[in-house]
Amino acid sequence: MKSYYVRTFGCQMNKHDSERIAGLMEAVGYVPVEEIERADVIVFNTCCVRETADERLYGQVSSLKALKTGGRPDVLIAVGGCVGQRDAEKVLAQVPHVDVVFGTHNIHELPSLLEAAESGRPAVSVLKEGEAFASELPRSADKPWHAWVSITVGCDNHCAYCIVPAVRGRERSRTVESIVTEVTQLVAQGVAEVTLLGQNVNSYGRDRSGKPRFAELLQRVAGTGIPRIRFATSHPKDLSDETIAALAELPALMPFLHLPVQHGSNRVLEAMNRDYTQEWYLDRIERVREAVPDIALSTDMIVGFPGETESDFLQTLDLVERVGFDHAFTFIYSPREGTPAAALPQTVSRETAQERFHRLASLVKDLAYASNLREVGQQRACLVEGASKRDRTVLSARTPHNRLVHVPVPEGRTPESFSGTIHPILITQAHPWFVSGTLGEPPAPQSPRSDRR
Ligand code: SAH
Ligand code: SF4
Ligand code: F3S
Repeated sequence: MKSYYVRTFGCQMNKHDSERIAGLMEAVGYVPVEEIERADVIVFNTCCVRETADERLYGQVSSLKALKTGGRPDVLIAVGGCVGQRDAEKVLAQVPHVDVVFGTHNIHELPSLLEAAESGRPAVSVLKEGEAFASELPRSADKPWHAWVSITVGCDNHCAYCIVPAVRGRERSRTVESIVTEVTQLVAQGVAEVTLLGQNVNSYGRDRSGKPRFAELLQRVAGTGIPRIRFATSHPKDLSDETIAALAELPALMPFLHLPVQHGSNRVLEAMNRDYTQEWYLDRIERVREAVPDIALSTDMIVGFPGETESDFLQTLDLVERVGFDHAFTFIYSPREGTPAAALPQTVSRETAQERFHRLASLVKDLAYASNLREVGQQRACLVEGASKRDRTVLSARTPHNRLVHVPVPEGRTPESFSGTIHPILITQAHPWFVSGTLGEPPAPQSPRSDRR
């Protein structure tokens, strides 16, 4: 039987798409393998949001040349996702041993492209825009108890630095019926948590005469009885009072919000074309906290955007401190060809950007640790994932606030026997990036009303 391996770069949308790639491969008779070197088909699902992601891909694909020249000439290498979408020709020119290139709109074509490539000639297909939703393809997940459910694809915003709209196309919303049907099926399969995905979930429905909106969709999804719901990503400009109310009212919605702010200075926010001010952002946060006082907050931030001065950067630090994020992703600005910002003069040197990055990262680390310290002594209903990556004697789980928690595996049990179940965990110790605790017994009931805290 032929085997496949999928390597995924980039965001949660790519993780979602990789589960569909896996589902498709299995539907046409391939089986998954753990080691890339043993696979008959290797699929790279790629990201080009920053230069580093791009470079990693080219490095990894190039290093597989040895596999093909060293006795496995029949291995097929496919490159899909955002790099495939953006520069199929460049991929073929730079790494000639690639057999298949596909884009973000035609994942469904992968099996036929692989078949065509068996003749020895590369098979390439990239569509400008898509009609289909990858969600409607079969799914095969590493974590069967969790599902990524896309509610929109594409992005209609024009953030000056961002390549995503160019590689994901116009924003399109799935129908409520198709989303609710999918989640209902997932509940029947025993899935404990869904993450609703879109580049800007808050604008859900806008392309469907604006009805229903995201808040109503959340209610409909909660109505399926799914125990836990998360969503990503929220654009601050579109975070409505109704969505904030839903966070407070729907017990299945986890008390966690990822709300990328990108910058603290209004001047830079305007240059980034984010369409909100620092004041608006802080007002949204205040309202969210009024509605859900113990909500955990996370964000994305960019340092070194063209024109950023030291005083602009200090405003980012100030905003981060004022909000007191529980978690944050920080990035150094990376010019992306074809985006409006790429045409701006790069006024911030690499050294300055790096130095600012370290100052910001250090503040983020302090805040994350402080947030973890506040958690000590709490008992939380946690969704157990399985063995921790490094140590099979430890279970990894997620608190409702999306905190990573480690607990010892009880004697006589395997980590896998806990995977996908919800258990009370008493948090006993804080670390910078995770907390540890002890597993309570008996397991918490998995009804949507009682598992939240
Ligand atoms: N649609 C989501 C995710 C966009 S990509 C959103 O709007 O939040 C994820 C993150 O990558 C962004 O939030 C941003 O912080 C970062 N990012 C995007 N383009 C970038 C670039 N050119 N340089 C550095 N970081 C970038
Ligand atoms: Fe990029 Fe902005 Fe769209 Fe997010 S909202 S994907 S940052 S253009
Ligand atoms: Fe990267 Fe594409 Fe996501 S560029 S961040 S994988 S939409």
